[in-house]
Amino acid sequence: MDKISIPPEWVFSPQPMYIIGTKNEDGTPNFCIITWLGFSFDGGPHLMMTVGGTKLTKTNILREKKFSANMITEDNLWLADYFGNTNGEEGEKNAVPYSYKQGKLVDVPVLNECHWAYECEVTRVIELSGAHLFLAAIRNIQIDKKYADMNMKKIDLSSIQPVIYAPYNYFSIKEKLGEMGEWKRHL
Ligand SMILES: Cc1cc2nc3c(=O)[nH]c(=O)nc-3n(C[C@H](O)[C@H](O)[C@H](O)COP(=O)(O)O)c2cc1C
Repeated sequence: MDKISIPPEWVFSPQPMYIIGTKNEDGTPNFCIITWLGFSFDGGPHLMMTVGGTKLTKTNILREKKFSANMITEDNLWLADYFGNTNGEEGEKNAVPYSYKQGKLVDVPVLNECHWAYECEVTRVIELSGAHLFLAAIRNIQIDKKYADMNMKKIDLSSIQPVIYAPYNYFSIKEKLGEMGEWKRHL
């Protein structure tokens, strides 16, 4: 096929979305969306995320060195959108109803509305020009009880219904295309 070049500013980075939960100085919770986020592995699973500018989430993580990452699914998308479009420095985010519990292994707020959440401890902070890159070890995973009997090695993504962020739109996942290593059946 013929290709054309476009500038790096037009990067298209579709990916799953997470609500990041942090503890404020007075112990109350704060939540926001981070989508510059990916996974890594070094002795155990890690989460890498980039928090730009100045925001309460960043101040909290720099002080506490921990956070929760709550997967955004179709049923909690608009709660997430509220968290991602409100500024924690302007006051507690309590214009809409939601609830949380403290993490089981890490002392971070975990949203009850989310079915899949990671409790993370920051292991490395890289200061960039304006943004901070956080590398964090996943210490515990909390999942909805209804997924207890799910095959964890072959998770049916469609039953979890994660939202995909394709800047600046939100999409749902359609259908399973196949399994790893099946290329001979498809080419
Ligand atoms: C869909 C979406 C994705 C976002 N992704 C990021 C991100 O990857 N990094 C970031 O620093 N801010 C991101 N934000 C912005 C923060 O969520 C926003 O600045 C929020 O108000 C910060 O909340 P806080 O002030 O309580 O920390 C995103 C917002 C939305 C709505």
